[in-house]
Amino acid sequence: MLNLLFNTAQASTYMPFQGSALSEQVDSLYGFLIISSLISFVLLIGGMIWFAYKYKRRTANDSTPNIHGDTTLEFLWSFIPFVIFMIVFVWGIIIHKEMRTAPQDAFEIHVTGYQWGWKFNYKSGVQTNTEFAVPVGRPIKLIMKSEDVLHSFFLPAFRIKQDTVPGRYTSLWFTARTPGDYQVFCTEYCGTSHSVMLATLKVLPPEQFESWLIENAKIKDLPLAERGKLIVEKGTCVSCHNVTAERKIGPGFAGLWGSVREFTDGTKVTADENYIRESIIYPAKKIVNGYANQMNAQNLSETELQAVIEYFKSQASNQNSETNEKVN
Ligand code: CUA
Repeated sequence: MLNLLFNTAQASTYMPFQGSALSEQVDSLYGFLIISSLISFVLLIGGMIWFAYKYKRRTANDSTPNIHGDTTLEFLWSFIPFVIFMIVFVWGIIIHKEMRTAPQDAFEIHVTGYQWGWKFNYKSGVQTNTEFAVPVGRPIKLIMKSEDVLHSFFLPAFRIKQDTVPGRYTSLWFTARTPGDYQVFCTEYCGTSHSVMLATLKVLPPEQFESWLIENAKIKDLPLAERGKLIVEKGTCVSCHNVTAERKIGPGFAGLWGSVREFTDGTKVTADENYIRESIIYPAKKIVNGYANQMNAQNLSETELQAVIEYFKSQASNQNSETNEKVN
């Protein structure tokens, strides 16, 4: 993830990779703030230490120096900071205005934050979860909302960040100038899994972007089990579960279908359609022995639930055929 943030091949500064012209402007202003603060700090603290040393009372007979005002000095130490503050203010306003005003012809994508993930809806009907793609060099406008609590959509490489709020739309815009993968963070604490509320922005050349859209549009037409595989492997499931049998935060998925699940309250159930559905939408109802009640309800449509169930089922039959082959 650090590689995404500090795209080491291209980063030349202490700041994250500059994904847009705007991010360069933000960094320039930030650099100016740091340098002017450093100079002020050295002058102020250095001066203080120097005067404390120079005018230290050395003997009991030292007289207190008689200091009168100096209009020129007083004017300068008020006026120079004033000018610096005004530069920062005007410079900041100019960048802020550009940052908040999306071009009319921007390519629009709907973004929805929920506990805990992101949904990206394209006008063509494509919906994705853990990654979204945009064409390089084209202004992109994100129209954002939240389904539950406050989240904040943050794209460090583009120096843009905006809260997503239930009940109203907010927006962001950017123009990516370098193809590549960029990290998206939720940067407003929103509950247990705030830290895994991540996504990847793929900046693609226009032709590749078109094929990305077409490929994702096809997901809806895939057989249920294949669609379920994509939901599981590309969705939030794998942040807490392995697709192998190995445990992660939650149990591994391999061998799940048809297995007997033992719960912390001593009850048992065979993993079938109802068990899987319940475990996804009401995860706290049955906690598998040896695990904590940590999972949060997942926001899947009925079709998506069916797809995930069929995926688990297909995994079980794959396994059976593999063992059968070995036996034979
Ligand atoms: Cu969503 Cu933090």
